[in-house]
Amino acid sequence: MFSSTARALVLALLALEASAAQKGTPTVSFNSTAGSTYLPNKDYSNEQLAMLWYQVGPVSTHPVVTATVEPTAEPSSYAGPGEFHPLVASNYGEQLAEAKLPADFAWGLSSSAYQLEGAARDEGRGPSIWDLLSHRNPNQVADNSTGDVLAQHYYLYKQDFARLKSFGAPYYSPSISWPRIFPFGKGPVNEAGLKHYDDVIAELVKNGIQPALSLFHWDTPLALFNQYGGWTNPQIIDDYLNYAKFIITRYDKYVPIWFSINEPQYCNWQYSYYPAGKLYPDYGVGPGMEARFLCGHHTLLAHAKLSKWYHNEFKGRGRITFKNSGNYFQPMTNSTADLAAAQRSYDFVLGWFGGVWSDGDYPQSLKDTLGDLLPKFTEKEKEIVKGSCDFFAIDAYTAFYVGELSGGVEACAGNKTHPSFPECVNQTAIGPDGFGIGPAADLGASWLKNTPVGVRKFLSHITKVLFPAVKDIQVTEFGFAEPFESDYTNVQDATWDLRRSDYIQGFLDNILLAITEDKVNVTGAYVWSIFDNFEWGSGIKTRFGLQYLNYDTLERTPKASWFQTRNWFK
Ligand code: BGC
Repeated sequence: MFSSTARALVLALLALEASAAQKGTPTVSFNSTAGSTYLPNKDYSNEQLAMLWYQVGPVSTHPVVTATVEPTAEPSSYAGPGEFHPLVASNYGEQLAEAKLPADFAWGLSSSAYQLEGAARDEGRGPSIWDLLSHRNPNQVADNSTGDVLAQHYYLYKQDFARLKSFGAPYYSPSISWPRIFPFGKGPVNEAGLKHYDDVIAELVKNGIQPALSLFHWDTPLALFNQYGGWTNPQIIDDYLNYAKFIITRYDKYVPIWFSINEPQYCNWQYSYYPAGKLYPDYGVGPGMEARFLCGHHTLLAHAKLSKWYHNEFKGRGRITFKNSGNYFQPMTNSTADLAAAQRSYDFVLGWFGGVWSDGDYPQSLKDTLGDLLPKFTEKEKEIVKGSCDFFAIDAYTAFYVGELSGGVEACAGNKTHPSFPECVNQTAIGPDGFGIGPAADLGASWLKNTPVGVRKFLSHITKVLFPAVKDIQVTEFGFAEPFESDYTNVQDATWDLRRSDYIQGFLDNILLAITEDKVNVTGAYVWSIFDNFEWGSGIKTRFGLQYLNYDTLERTPKASWFQTRNWFK
């Protein structure tokens, strides 16, 4: 019945369909890690694991969701802002009318394992330092919440990814939990944990979402604290490498972007109240300054060694870097002292790990101020640190004004007991005229103000002034804690998050301006976070999600900011 041309056409169409169907359900297979030198897959000890959990104390479980849940079809649309109130308008309508993102711009939402997975003690996971801190350290978490259950994302990831697919972002940036893979930090592998992440990666691939994957987001295995004090000890480097190489070997095929470490600057706050001697054995590293800079040193070396292995030995197919934590510092005035204070502020945050982009070493200001508190790199180590990031990743949430410390920098820099040591600058969210720098976030994130213009200035400053060797930069996290969101008693009020929507609109507009007007090569941006989660010391009351999480029913509901973000990218 068909003419031969029509037949050929039908066959071609069928072939196309078949290949599309194939594309729709890709087959996923992982590189074998069996037999590798870092897989002594023997003597997995349940008793030892129970002892570790005993140190943490009783862990809560969810009454219903205790196994992986198959997803149901996502609705074709979600309840969203209606005719009575629009989303937030752009302040740069005309300027950005023709502006376009680069075609391969990486964007999506971000998260981290401990902050949303829950299922803390399930399927052979070992405890991390955060299980211990949230359970046992008095006053550690403001609302006494823990990561025990949270969103139970560990079991609900399939539905979460189905929703991400409908959101339409090409990337998702979560982290893997080290103690789910190596419950003791090293040694035996937990097969159930590994199988779980196999499924997570496969499910992302199935949904057409590319992982930008963090290997470490602060959840150091508790066993390694017990053994030698976590990141204060150089032994952590090999244990981290063992774990990180294991994961990369297995998943590299599907992961175009690797983040070795989430924000090495976390050493500042997590190690400044380093509770050795109270919660786990004391290894003789004093709390505060000493622990902080040892942690930073070992973190940077661990990253650098991984990165060099990734490219030189493993020949990975993707890119690798670490995510920096940093904020824009606006000098209070143009005085030499205020400009120097701004530079000093950058030195202690980004410069601390900035040897990657220069000589592999620490800035002179850190050496001068910290003296023996700052560990030293050997010449060989500097070579390893140098050039170990494929691009600059910045988690840029806010901005500060900065000025000269009253009494001058010298008096502080020479006195280790000075309250402003070692930065010795005056950082503030109050402008020179006395007005606040931007609208405040929730009280649980008092450091955070909405300062969209800051991100544009920051992107230029990082790439043109601080580290000119940087070729491209991604804003790997930005986000906002809507004030008082947890106080609402119904989900409809909580999901009208106008301040977060305004923050996102402003930040995205300014990131685009950095690209189009300032010619900064920004290649990605990720909003924190997929839904509300455990905000570390501030607990679950401080919410950063684009979806509202009901901690009782586990229901996730898109907020106005979800639509704001999606529309912006559309
Ligand atoms: C961290 C996240 C955190 C977010 C908001 C980022 O610096 O990577 O873990 O939740 O800030 O405070």
